[in-house]
Amino acid sequence: MLQNKEARREVYLEDRIKFEYNIILIGFMGTGKSSVSRYLNENYKMQEIDVDQLIVEKEGMEIADIFQSRGEEYFRDCESAILETLLQQRKSIISCGGGIVLRKKNIELMKENGKIILLTGKPETILQRVKDNTERPILNGNMNTTFIEELMEKRRNHYEKAADLVVETDGKTIKEVAEEIISRLIQE
Ligand code: S3P
Repeated sequence: MLQNKEARREVYLEDRIKFEYNIILIGFMGTGKSSVSRYLNENYKMQEIDVDQLIVEKEGMEIADIFQSRGEEYFRDCESAILETLLQQRKSIISCGGGIVLRKKNIELMKENGKIILLTGKPETILQRVKDNTERPILNGNMNTTFIEELMEKRRNHYEKAADLVVETDGKTIKEVAEEIISRLIQE
């Protein structure tokens, strides 16, 4: 059995990854979803799809501007609409915005269409990673661990309900997180 697993792993690594399903990355802002997605795209030749990026392209506006001019609900509607268009997608890395789990329907759609990987991080880690970035409207004016911790706590249930696999990112490089995802998926 172990031998089989090892053999399968070698084939995967030689040939680069051939998962038949989508790998869907979720998690709080600053957990590294987009960076991990980019790493997997560059190193494993998997197609990369970034939900936030698709919203920006479709709306012709940055996320912060969408929040400011149309409001959060409008942004959430865009998010759900984009997710629906990804239904036919296969063998891709789909990186989602941190709030995608807030709608139950989004979780159902993701569950039907891939393996959901939850990236986690401590509030202190998140703050270090996001503190110099002004492109996240939810954190603008709220750049502190208390706010991050409270929001994380409010969302915890949603994230945990959605996740097929949880990968902690504290103290790990993007490469380490990405390789951990691949090796845990192969070992399943
Ligand atoms: C959000 C996270 C952001 C982006 C938007 C809202 C959230 O994406 O979708 O600013 O509600 O957590 P990242 O998680 O990629 O920063």
